[in-house]
Amino acid sequence: MPRKLIVDTDPGIDDAVAIFLAAASPELDLLGLTTVFGNCATAVATRNALILLDVADRPDVPVARGATDPVASTYLGAIPHIHGTDGMGDGGELPAPTREPVAESAAEFLCRTVAEHPGEVTILAVGPLTNLALALRLRPDLDTLVDQVVVMGGNALVPGNATPAAEANMLNDPEAADVVFGARWPVTMVGLDVTHKANLRGADLDRITAADTPAGRHLARALPLYRAFMERTNGLDGIYTHDPSEVAYLIDPTAFRTEAWPRRGRSGWRPRVSAAARRGPTSATPTTRPRPRGRTGRWSTCASTSTRPAWSTWSCAGSADRPGVVAVE
Ligand code: BDR
Ligand code: CA
Repeated sequence: MPRKLIVDTDPGIDDAVAIFLAAASPELDLLGLTTVFGNCATAVATRNALILLDVADRPDVPVARGATDPVASTYLGAIPHIHGTDGMGDGGELPAPTREPVAESAAEFLCRTVAEHPGEVTILAVGPLTNLALALRLRPDLDTLVDQVVVMGGNALVPGNATPAAEANMLNDPEAADVVFGARWPVTMVGLDVTHKANLRGADLDRITAADTPAGRHLARALPLYRAFMERTNGLDGIYTHDPSEVAYLIDPTAFRTEAWPRRGRSGWRPRVSAAARRGPTSATPTTRPRPRGRTGRWSTCASTSTRPAWSTWSCAGSADRPGVVAVE
């Protein structure tokens, strides 16, 4: 039976590859996309999600628009030098999407869809974890109803990519990461330890972008900017497959080596306090959830606090009874 899947995403070029892979895989039953800020603002990410599903010929897959800011601060902003001002590599005008997102918010969509299939849904988060944290606030038992959460983000034994210490998705909402990694659901983190090893080489990319298919043509326009960035900054002939690696993990977990680890969340603090932080926690700030007994590892204290972490690393989630898992290769 195909695995029921919701992808929470900030498309984003590597998100686009991940979505095409998920949409085309018979092993996966794609129930919806939920969108979040990160590579671009949420409005752009939502439009891109709709366009990507048009390209993938999946009009059956709904898109729910998500949060526009982190749970306790404001969005750091887009990264147009990596993903383009349109989030899709600035490779030419994108077609207008043929439909609208659903009326539900991402958090509402997650809660309703998971509750309709208790114990069956995998949530794959390939952007900041804001929507998942907000969904937990809406429905505190959500973490007992999902099959598993798989996260693209964090870095266990390797440096960060957004700062020397932090991976981009975690940096974009460390408070949400604290909530999500502290919840009762099983979490598998597929972080930079994996994705910096899993490369699509230049020759692979050439084959993909030469394909005379809607997805091939879309990626032929989207990938060059991302590829040039990777070459310039990492000396790669090819790209790191951040988001597609997690889809690959769901299609064939045996291709990965995983280890159960105690979780380690850690954050540092900016000397300056943001305007949002000066106002203090708001109603949009999730309350810190009590952590079940039996947890191991050291945790940051960033949830519901009044300053924004300047950097953070997340190596794993878990507890004595429900170990977190980190995919390492
Ligand atoms: C992650 O950050 C985003 O820029 C990518 O889409 C990926 O999800 C990599 O650190
Ligand atoms: Ca992403």
